[in-house]
Amino acid sequence: MKNVKVGIIGCGNISSIYCQAGKKFEILEIVACADLDYSRAKARAEEFDIPKAYTVEELLADPEIEIVINLTIPQAHAEVCTRALEAGKHVYVEKPLAISLEDGKKVLELAKKKNLKLGGAPDTFLGGGIQTCRKLIDDGAIGEVVAATGFMMSPGHESWHPDPSFYYQQGGGPMFDMGPYYITALINLIGPIRRVTGSTRITYKERTITSKPKYGEKIKVEVPTHITGVLDFDNGAIGTIITSFDVGGSTLPNIEIYGSTGTIIVPDPNTFGGPVRLKKHGSQEWEEIPLTHRFTENSRGIGVVDMAYSLRNGEDHRANGLLTLHVLEVMHGIHEASAEGKHYILTSTCEQPKALPIHF
Ligand SMILES: NC(=O)c1ccc[n+]([C@@H]2O[C@H](COP(=O)([O-])OP(=O)(O)OC[C@H]3O[C@@H](n4cnc5c(N)ncnc54)[C@H](O)[C@@H]3O)[C@@H](O)[C@H]2O)c1
Repeated sequence: MKNVKVGIIGCGNISSIYCQAGKKFEILEIVACADLDYSRAKARAEEFDIPKAYTVEELLADPEIEIVINLTIPQAHAEVCTRALEAGKHVYVEKPLAISLEDGKKVLELAKKKNLKLGGAPDTFLGGGIQTCRKLIDDGAIGEVVAATGFMMSPGHESWHPDPSFYYQQGGGPMFDMGPYYITALINLIGPIRRVTGSTRITYKERTITSKPKYGEKIKVEVPTHITGVLDFDNGAIGTIITSFDVGGSTLPNIEIYGSTGTIIVPDPNTFGGPVRLKKHGSQEWEEIPLTHRFTENSRGIGVVDMAYSLRNGEDHRANGLLTLHVLEVMHGIHEASAEGKHYILTSTCEQPKALPIHF
């Protein structure tokens, strides 16, 4: 199978793991990288033997590049996706697809119009841990799925992140930051969502940075920092999700799935591995289930790999634009439901991504 030539735009923190994916997976050939700050592109190109360090314009003009991986900051996602699609490239974008739902829809529409593929993070749901859970559910290990919970409880990022202000500005907050991992995992395990409701609050109007180098600086909080949502899935299952930057301690699990004959404890959806635990109704014991699928280490980039294969074999890819748009709408819907005091009916939907074959 012919390699797919890829260019990366955005050479910050997360780009290193994608560059590693270019070495690990034969189908991906990272031929160029670019950044607003050219020195960053140059540094990544040197570190990972990427043949060309480009400006963004040069990268988009290079005819050999088929897929652009957009690893810029969320505020730039929609714009960079749009420019790459306009340049005739397939695009895979880090989460979230866009800040506003409107921009997310426009990007997806443009991809459709241009007959180009759009994909997006997270791809942790393709890891061995969550794929093992998916296989258990598909094989009937817990019967009919009745309900699910997802909890991301944290005190916020100002104690460790060097520049944490963006977490408290538009486009930030715990739901837009971490919700994509949880909601994508739940859609992969249960299917699409038809309506949501929720309640949100801002607990602290101001935060004080205790990390370096901005120690002591204040952050004005502009977005909700504690968000509780209810998710009604198409198939009738009911999900509860809490994402918080206002909780100092908690023993709640990451994700649990409750079925008519058993319960699964799903691993942290921000990771690729296990453990996966199953308890059948009537049993006294939790059983640790051996993982059935590969990619249990940090495999960020397998969503792009799946998309690259789909370009060559014509099949659909799993971490696709419809899924990322649906996730974006769920997150907005929960906030809107809280602000307006009503349920929010989703206007988007997606297919439950196909389970990965065990030999993928
Ligand atoms: N860092 C993480 O651990 C992590 C984990 C998962 C997902 N993500 C996601 O990955 C994305 C990038 O995060 P990061 O931590 O690498 O951020 P970062 O700030 O370290 O890097 C972003 C890079 O994009 C460049 N950039 C910004 N706007 C640009 C534009 N218009 N054109 C070209 N380059 C531009 C910046 O110069 C910077 O080098 C975000 O969407 C984030 O949500 C990050």
